[in-house]
Amino acid sequence: MKLWKGRFSKQATLSADKFNSSINTDKRLWLKDIDLSLAHGRMLAKQKIISERDFSLIEKGLLEIKEEVLGGKISFTDEYEDIHMAIETILTERIGDSGKRLHTARSRNDQVATDLRMYLKDETLEIISLLDSLMEEIESIADKNRDTILPGFTHMQKAQPVTLTMHLSAYREMFLRDRERLEDSIKRTDVMPLGSCALSGTSYNIDRQSVKEELRFRELSKNPMDAVSDRDFVLELLFIISLIMMHLSRFSEEIIIFSTSEFNYIELDDSYSTGSSIMPQKKNPDMAELVRGKTGRVYGNLMAMLTVMKGLPLTYNKDMQEDKELIFDSVDTVKASLEIFTEMIGTATFNKEVMEKDLKTGYMNATDAADYLVKKGVPFRECHEIIGRMVLALSKEGKDIEDLTLPQLKAYSPYFEEDIYEAVDVRNLIKNRKEK
Ligand code: ARG
Repeated sequence: MKLWKGRFSKQATLSADKFNSSINTDKRLWLKDIDLSLAHGRMLAKQKIISERDFSLIEKGLLEIKEEVLGGKISFTDEYEDIHMAIETILTERIGDSGKRLHTARSRNDQVATDLRMYLKDETLEIISLLDSLMEEIESIADKNRDTILPGFTHMQKAQPVTLTMHLSAYREMFLRDRERLEDSIKRTDVMPLGSCALSGTSYNIDRQSVKEELRFRELSKNPMDAVSDRDFVLELLFIISLIMMHLSRFSEEIIIFSTSEFNYIELDDSYSTGSSIMPQKKNPDMAELVRGKTGRVYGNLMAMLTVMKGLPLTYNKDMQEDKELIFDSVDTVKASLEIFTEMIGTATFNKEVMEKDLKTGYMNATDAADYLVKKGVPFRECHEIIGRMVLALSKEGKDIEDLTLPQLKAYSPYFEEDIYEAVDVRNLIKNRKEK
């Protein structure tokens, strides 16, 4: 039964009802909607807009509904248009006229915006705590591998040796920035639109401050037209989640590459790998690939929401109902991805010996050989040229810089001395770096 049926002389068709309904998506806001209604109802009674008796029935009814939902006795089926209508309808069926008074001085427009902000504040905190667990895992792997050295890459070509700690900490820095962004975004999400009503506020003598306190919002929205039509907080979270997924996806890509037999730097635990239905030898990094793949969907959600909003005039438009499917999907995806990723890297084996053996090829000490000559007074460009010629010749013979005898080195530059061998030793290269 429609709560807004008065103005209509005909019922909506089944197809129109089905198309209009958002209950299957927004039912997860049910607890926030009940909390909101409790605070709103209490305030209405305090302000004498409804009677104390009305509110005590409303409160009892809502608390009963809450218990029954928690106990699995009520489920929100698609006979309802959305979660707000569902709860109000069930309440009114139980308590009659008092239930019908609950929607005084509010609209679904400020209601849905408030519910969603409450919900996303909690989800943002959960994402922060999952990021913290991931960063802790990264730190613990870095700690266990303090003396592990591996090739560092640019253009996916061996560049210079790096410590595993430095490599992993690079990701930690990214996630730290993401964490900061999430924390900062809460400032803008933590604003209460309730009281804005449909779009222009209300003439009732409401007390927004007390509702704000009960619902633990930091601030009240200032402009009701903005408050009911603003979805920037959804977009901001969609964007930050996209960044987190992008960081996870890059990390996944490295895990996929580094766990190939060609690299063999990492071995994923069997419990986070999958096999092939046909090739018995296969052990595939599906978790990492799925994180990488899901990143595409999360970007899609951001683009979809930006596009939903781009042509909307003030104020509320039903287009905005699309926001929930998109943001819920991104929130679920990033949470699941962070969890599985943390478990996956936490159980992986880092093949220290293989990484270190791999330092022997690729002339990763070439920059340091050039720097050695710089320190002896040769201009850097000249040094670059000398070592470049040396690498060209050596690569044809399959030799390394340290394989050359001092007289052979001196043929390239008279400035080479015995201490060159120490200067190009990979272990010393790491020690000499200023950057931690
Ligand atoms: N289900 C709606 C949504 O999510 C609630 C707001 C409906 N408001 C309205 N005026 N039709 O956007």
